[in-house]
Amino acid sequence: MVPSCGQTNLTLQTLCKLGPRLMTHFENKWCLITGASAGIGAAYARAFAEEGANLILVARREERLNSLAVELQTSHGVKTVVRAVDLLADGQPQQLIEELSNEGLQVDILINNAGFGMWSRCEHTNPNQVDNMLQLNINVLALLTYAYLPGMLSRKSGTIINVASRAAFQPVVYMPAYAASKAFVLSFSEALWAETRGRGVHVMAVCPGVVNTEFIELADMPTRLSSIALNRDDVVKATMSGLRRKRPSIVVGIIPSILTFLNRFLPRTLLARMSMNFMRPDADAEE
Ligand SMILES: NC(=O)c1ccc[n+]([C@@H]2O[C@H](COP(=O)([O-])OP(=O)(O)OC[C@H]3O[C@@H](n4cnc5c(N)ncnc54)[C@H](OP(=O)(O)O)[C@@H]3O)[C@@H](O)[C@H]2O)c1
Repeated sequence: MVPSCGQTNLTLQTLCKLGPRLMTHFENKWCLITGASAGIGAAYARAFAEEGANLILVARREERLNSLAVELQTSHGVKTVVRAVDLLADGQPQQLIEELSNEGLQVDILINNAGFGMWSRCEHTNPNQVDNMLQLNINVLALLTYAYLPGMLSRKSGTIINVASRAAFQPVVYMPAYAASKAFVLSFSEALWAETRGRGVHVMAVCPGVVNTEFIELADMPTRLSSIALNRDDVVKATMSGLRRKRPSIVVGIIPSILTFLNRFLPRTLLARMSMNFMRPDADAEE
């Protein structure tokens, strides 16, 4: 039967509405997000719930995770599991993996987002804090990736999003260990993207410039950077677009993208010195 004009429009409208979901295939999949209690992680949780994915929300602050879980169940009708876990505590990431597996939860989408930064002059840097940062930003991310990647490959289906940073592309004065940890995330993700492409699995690094979240204050970064910060929804939008295009990595923001392009042509010594000016303390900026 040939559809009437009205019917055709309705069908097209429905298809347009469903378009992004059909392309991303996230409906009814389980998505594990680390660092879901705040900032970019919470924004990812809302975006993937909108795509119809069920969520495993992981972070330390349980109350926040619970209220996000209730919000997403109510607004999108998705299933949620909350795990209040300190990923830096001995054996906790391994225990999380084991518990989820015992509960029969199959992770189809992994978002390695939990992380923190620290702005500090080298002579005042606390080595134990650096150790913790590298553990969370690098080791926990690699552990979770290797825990879930084989299952995804055997099912020929899966997505891993590793949150890196624009800082991954160059040395950054006052945040040298943080930038280096994100260089690891970028390199690690791009290599896995190449190894797994064409096998139903997509690994992607997300590299935002400064984003307006608790991160800036927790890292003790110069407060003036908040004025040029991206919105967390910009990160989500760019991520969804990167997933559709099967990108190995994406840079979020127009200025960060231009800077990343220019990075290719400038000596790293110059980039390091330029970063010193960009990251200078607020007091110096006022002089
Ligand atoms: N904001 C930026 O300017 C920016 C720019 C580029 C990249 N990034 C990256 O984006 C990611 C998310 O950062 P954000 O800006 O959203 O920061 P945020 O608002 O501070 O969120 C960080 C998240 O990580 C969780 N977390 C921290 N330590 C944890 C631990 N030991 N165990 C479990 N969870 C832990 C926090 O939850 P609890 O405190 O409840 O545990 C929180 O949910 C990080 O990897 C960061 O490096 C941020």
